[in-house]
This record gives sequence, structure tokens and C-alpha cells, in this order.
Amino acid sequence: MKILAFGGSSSRNSINKKLATYAASLFNADEIEILDLNDYELPLFSVDREKLIGQPPIAKDFYEKIEWADVLVISVAEHNGGMTAAFKNIYDWASRQKKLVFNNTPMLLLSASPGKRGGASALEAAQISMKWYGGNIKATFSLPSFKENFDESRGNISNKELDNALKEIIRNFEYE
Ligand SMILES: Cc1cc2nc3c(=O)[nH]c(=O)nc-3n(C[C@H](O)[C@H](O)[C@H](O)COP(=O)(O)O)c2cc1C
Repeated sequence: MKILAFGGSSSRNSINKKLATYAASLFNADEIEILDLNDYELPLFSVDREKLIGQPPIAKDFYEKIEWADVLVISVAEHNGGMTAAFKNIYDWASRQKKLVFNNTPMLLLSASPGKRGGASALEAAQISMKWYGGNIKATFSLPSFKENFDESRGNISNKELDNALKEIIRNFEYE
């Protein structure tokens, strides 16, 4: 089983990338690949820019990575109540080449934020959007108050209750 995991953020120190990396490690996987959205940076999408530059190979690389995976672990960062521009941008570019960007691949959708809601609005926005674009979301989990609940030196969730909740979700994850 091959897992592709990434944070929906271009922050170098992304807490969502850390959460996605940890969650991916809890699966019984043969291969895990962690993407960094900084490797998929493109100009801000517009139909005019698309006319000028065509369909960038980087967008194809992105959806091909998704096609490679058997399971997707995506943790969306929240900016102003929605997904980040960085994630939405590569998503928009990719969707112009392949409508079902997320390929109907079983997905664990996560979110994390330093605040008490754990990026719940971004998680909700992602759920609403992705279902039209091949998002086969099998389970969701939000990690609130990241600093208090995640041990950055160990790279794991330090709050036992939350850690057990995520482990339970992964134990029951549906792979179809
Ligand atoms: C422009 C901007 C808007 C933000 N808006 C929200 C928000 O609406 N809700 C929230 O919980 N956190 C918000 N935050 C804080 C982010 O959740 C925080 O920066 C988090 O670390 C982002 O995830 P990342 O580290 O994976 O990039 C915002 C941060 C920025 C820079």
C-alpha cells in the first residue's frame, strides 16, 4: 500500500505537514511519500494566464503523484476560514487538466491549527469542494491547539485522548 501525504500549506514549518506525516506513519504502509507544496508552486491561476502559459507540467506532476497513491492523507491549513491560496492554486491548475484531481482515492482528511477549532472551517471547505473533484473522503480528524497537543521533537500527538482518537480512525479506515 502506497500513501501520499501532504499539508495543504506552503509554510516551510507547516504544522499540517507535520500532522499529515505523523498520521501517514500510523498506517501499515509499504511506501510513504510526503509532498511539499513548495515543489508545486505556480503563478496564481487565472483563465487568462492559462491562455498565456498553457497547462503547466507541474500540475500534471501533482495529479500523477495522487494517481500513484492507494491512500491520500491530506491535512488542510486554515487561512481566513478557508483552504490556503497555495493549496487551492495547485488544485485549480490540476483540475484544468484532470477534473477528478483526487482520483477517487480513499482519503484521510485532516486539519490542524494553533487555535481551538483546529482548522475546522478549512476542513469543511475542503470536504465541500473535494467531493466534486474525486475526493473520496473516508474519515476526517482535526487537531486543535497544535502547540499544546503535538510534540514537535517526537513528531507525534502528545495528547493521549486525541492520539487514540486518530489511531482508532486509522484502524477503521476503509481502503475502498
Ligand atoms: C493569513 C492567515 C490567516 C489565518 N486564518 C486562520 C483562520 O481562519 N483560522 C485559524 O484557525 N487559523 C488561522 N491562521 C493561523 C494558521 O492556522 C496557522 O498559521 C497555521 O500554522 C497554518 O498551518 P500551517 O502551519 O500548516 O501553514 C491564519 C494564518 C494566516 C497567516
